[in-house]
This record gives sequence, C-alpha cells and structure tokens, in this order.
Amino acid sequence: MPATILIGAQWGDEGKGRVADSLAAESALVGRYAGGDNAGHTVVVGEHVHKLHLIPSGILHPHVLCVLGNGLVVNPLTLLREMDELAATGVDISPDRLALSTRAHIITPAHIALDRAAEAARGKDAIGTTLRGIGPAYMDKTGRSGLRAGQMMDVEGFVEALQQHIEAANARLIQLGAEPLDPATASQDYVDAAERLRPYLKDTSSLVNDALTAGQRVLCEGAQGSLLDIDHGDYPFVTSSSPTAGGALIGLGFGPTYVDRVIGVAKAFATRVGGGPFPTELDGPLASRLRGTGANFWDEFGTTTGRPRRCGWIDSVLLRYTAQVSGFTELVLTKLDILSGFDTIDIAVAYELDGQRIDSPPATVRELERVVPIYETMPGWSEDVSGVRRPEDLPQALLNYVDRIADLAGVPITMLSVGPEREQLVRFRG
Ligand code: GDP
Ligand code: IMO
Ligand code: MG
Repeated sequence: MPATILIGAQWGDEGKGRVADSLAAESALVGRYAGGDNAGHTVVVGEHVHKLHLIPSGILHPHVLCVLGNGLVVNPLTLLREMDELAATGVDISPDRLALSTRAHIITPAHIALDRAAEAARGKDAIGTTLRGIGPAYMDKTGRSGLRAGQMMDVEGFVEALQQHIEAANARLIQLGAEPLDPATASQDYVDAAERLRPYLKDTSSLVNDALTAGQRVLCEGAQGSLLDIDHGDYPFVTSSSPTAGGALIGLGFGPTYVDRVIGVAKAFATRVGGGPFPTELDGPLASRLRGTGANFWDEFGTTTGRPRRCGWIDSVLLRYTAQVSGFTELVLTKLDILSGFDTIDIAVAYELDGQRIDSPPATVRELERVVPIYETMPGWSEDVSGVRRPEDLPQALLNYVDRIADLAGVPITMLSVGPEREQLVRFRG
C-alpha cells in the first residue's frame, strides 16, 4: 500500500498531531521527515495529553513502527527526555518500535547558543525562533560541517568530533557577542546520550522502502507548516527545513511514485507564533476569543515555547497557495468547535495591494506585509458541535462555511475536528 503525506497548511500548530494519531491507526510506519524539537504535536489519549516534539504520533499505537528520518535535526537530550516521558506513561519505546536515521543531523549545545545569539543580534527583526538550535544545525548540515547521528555508533569518536565542533562554533559565538562554551562541560551529557541511542540508529530509508514494497501504509507526519517552509514560506520568517510535500521524500528517502494521498491540515481560523506577515491577523476581543485564556491545553499558546499565538481569520488566498505547493489531495479542518457562538465569520478571499485586487500571494514578504484582505462574511452558528460525530448532525451554517473554504482552496475537505480528543472527529465526504 502507498504513502500518505500529512502537511500543515498554515503556519504550524494546525492540529497535525491529532490528525496523525487518527491516520496512524491504519498505518504500519509513521515517520517524521523535517524539523526537530521546534515542533510540538498534541495528542490526547484518554486522560493523557501527550506533547510530542520529535517522536511521531504513531508511537501511541502499539502496532506502529516510528521513524525519525534523515531530514531531521535531532537533539539527543530532548529525544531521550521524550522517550522517558512516554515510557513513564506505559508506552513501549524499544528499538523495535522506534528508529533514528544514521543520516539525521545532531543539534549540539553550540547550535542552541548560536540560535539565541543570532536572535539577539537581529534585534527588532528577530524571527522569533523556538531557540532549539534548528537554524544553526541546518546551516552546519548544508555547510557540510554538521554531525550526523550515525557518528554516535562510535561514542569516543563522536565526543571528539563534538568537542571540535564546539571549539569551532565558539569563534562564531564570540563574533555575535555571546559567551563561548567549554567543550568538555558542554559535551558531557552527550556521552551517555550516544550510548543510549546507539541501538536505535538505523538506515531508516530502507525501513520505509521495505514497508512500502511489502504493501504496508506509511504515514509521513509533517511538522511546522507550509508557510514556514524555507523555500515556499515567508522568508526570512521561516524555519530552516522543508515541511512541504517534497520534504517528505527527501527527509525519509523514498520515491514520489508511492504517494497517493497528500493531506493538508488547516485550522478553521489562523494562528502564527513568532514574527512575519499575517494578513488576516486580528487584535482586541476577537483575537482573545479565538486564542482563549490559556486555561485549556488547547488554547492558543505554543506547545513548545508557551508563547501566545497571534490569531486571525482563515485566509483562503494562502490556503490555495499551500495546496498548490504540495498538491493537496484533501484538506482536514480542525478546531471548528472554537468558532461556535460567533455571529459572523470572515474568510479572506483575495487581497488588495496598492489599489489592485490580487488572488494569489504577492512575490515578496514586504508586499505580503502591505496587503489588505478582502473578506467574505458568512453567518456563524451557535450550537456546541464538540459532541457531533456525523456530518448530518452539524449545523447548516457550519457546513456552508466548510464548503466555501473547500471551494476557495480548490481541495475537498474530508475530515472535521471538533475537539482535541481522539473521537472528536467527523469523517466527511471522504
Ligand atoms: P500541531 O503542532 O499541528 O500538532 O498542533 P499543536 O498540538 O501544536 O496545537 C493544536 C492544539 O489544538 C493542541 O492543543 C490540540 O490538542 C488542539 N486541537 C486540535 N484539534 C482540535 C479541535 O478540533 N478542537 C480543539 N478545541 N482543540 C483542538
Ligand atoms: P509544529 O510542528 C508553529 C516557527 C517559530 C518561528 C519560526 C522559526 O508544532 O506545527 P525555528 O525554531 O524553527 O527556527 O523557528 O518557525 N515554528 C513553529 N511555529 N509550530 C511549529 O511546529 C513551529 N516550528 C517552528 O515560531 O516563527
Ligand atoms: Mg505544534
């Protein structure tokens, strides 16, 4: 059976984790293909609210093999912490269930210090990164000076290479006005980490291809969002990897011929955390209402950093664009329950830029910062939909809203999420 790629259609935090959890039930292998522990995927199983940063959501289904692909940058310390947290809740995290690509790159303490120093140096133009060392680790990867996970096979050699890397990074840290690191102290915890992770190191591209040729379904769990893509996002307010469909092939090492479903996940409104343009951003009471107060775990505060997320109306201009970049075959809409009780709901259908109407995003970020959204206003619904499981029980106004988004995005909507819990999903016209 073929591969499914699941992709964030906005700026991240669309609810990919909860959708991946649902699709994992019918998959044999679930792999992460891009990013690192900048991701935070929330999956609710019974009374447990799991916040996964590196490990694919498939880990919560005992039959699934989970893969951290070659496209990732992995902090061994946070990976082990996450493995320990899962083990404490009774999840099997043995090497039979979890594999780390020998080709994935390692995030070091120097990368984290460099991320912090670079953000400080950017001042008011800061990207608002998660400070997890993601950008510097990918810079070393493309600069061909990175450390790969496979080097942990030889622990002594790995620690020596790590210390040399920290020495070299110190010059960059000093240039940025930050304190240099002591290589011996900074690499201490990595010795034990390498010992513990050794049994997990595998050629994961072979695992993925073995599953595909055996006719098993593989789910590629995207992290971040299409608009944070290094090529297709709002550069420079992006992450340093490729969350879009092409990234899945590179980041897990298999061919496009296997892919039969490319599923975009979008929130029923829009959020962004960190800097960068956000044409439909709201402030005041409407934004506060979409964000929530933080009292619920699903309120709009970052899963990884706790930062309040910027909130606004859904933007179909950007959805059309992200559907095009990855070739979505379907779209899933999440958090529809949060829109209950709004008298009216706006959808951005086009932009005005310098007096001209445009239907696709402008070429530059500076222009995207200046566009004025053209909205279509739709009637809202007052019913609580969190208990609904069948499309025919949904309010007509909600169905009209969903249909209009599918029309504007040019992609069928096949699943609606009406709450964070496993069963709070409505399978729809799929
Ligand atoms: P991800 O990074 O795309 O996996 O998304 P996050 O986990 O960072 O953020 C999504 C948040 O919304 C999490 O707290 C989820 O539990 C929550 N969530 C997902 N779907 C729904 C939904 O349909 N309704 C509500 N109320 N919360 C949801
Ligand atoms: P998930 O997988 C939301 C954002 C950061 C920042 C920019 C660059 O949970 O959807 P980085 O640390 O990657 O260099 O930060 O990207 N960002 C995310 N925003 N969800 C994420 O992941 C994100 N991962 C990175 O806020 O604006
Ligand atoms: Mg998240």
